[in-house]
Amino acid sequence: MSATLHFEVFSLFPEVFEPYLQTSILQRARQSNLVSVALHNIRDWTYDRHHVTDDEPYGGGGGMVMKPEPIFRAIEECLGAPPTCPVILLTPQGRPFNQKVAQELAEGASFEQPKRLALLCGRYEGIDERVCEHLVTDEISIGDYVITGGELAALVVIDAVTRFLPGALGDPDGALDDSHASGLLEYPHYTRPAEFRGWRVPDVLLSGDHAKVALWRRQQALLRTYQRRPDLLINAPLSAADRKFLQQLDAGKWLDTTE
Ligand code: ADE
Repeated sequence: MSATLHFEVFSLFPEVFEPYLQTSILQRARQSNLVSVALHNIRDWTYDRHHVTDDEPYGGGGGMVMKPEPIFRAIEECLGAPPTCPVILLTPQGRPFNQKVAQELAEGASFEQPKRLALLCGRYEGIDERVCEHLVTDEISIGDYVITGGELAALVVIDAVTRFLPGALGDPDGALDDSHASGLLEYPHYTRPAEFRGWRVPDVLLSGDHAKVALWRRQQALLRTYQRRPDLLINAPLSAADRKFLQQLDAGKWLDTTE
């Protein structure tokens, strides 16, 4: 049986991927053939004596720029010319990555079969713009900060996308229960013991009353989102009861949500 989703990763440092990919959910998803991850070292497509992958920027200035030839050769040789799958560049200039983008990539309505996603990891100051213009089909940023290269960002994408593949999580609703999946942050979690250093688990969670627990969790998710990420409330699907609860928060009326 072939894997559901194939990631094709192009990087100058492919060795950083394996330890993470061999852990937990991703390891299991690979073993059960839900995903495969092929790691390609861009340097393998350099044919000069020193295997050079970068060069000084035209126009001067500091830093180095990744050369176009090895990247084009690597991707076209592995995926065809032009590639038939999305080629995603990880870059701080890309569109912001979030749970919705992860789901969109996992569902991949526009993919060929088998589903394939190429992830291109940038390094140095950047990549020759001709790669972005003529090879890359999508650019993704994992946040408004700069990390040393796209490798960590690619792992973030692989992880978040894999969680959406049916069967990747033990719980069939797993990814749908995750923080952000409902458009809200998640409610707080507790496990045994019921009291630790004098700090008690909220009584409602010990009550055995499923309806009360569900209401408490929903209100905690709303409260947390209201306090920490109010921007998310603009697009979150909210019921009339949710709105009423938020209005009460807005009015400064802090409900005792532990009851
Ligand atoms: N490469 C460097 N910084 C990045 C970011 N924030 N997102 C994706 N790729 C990156």
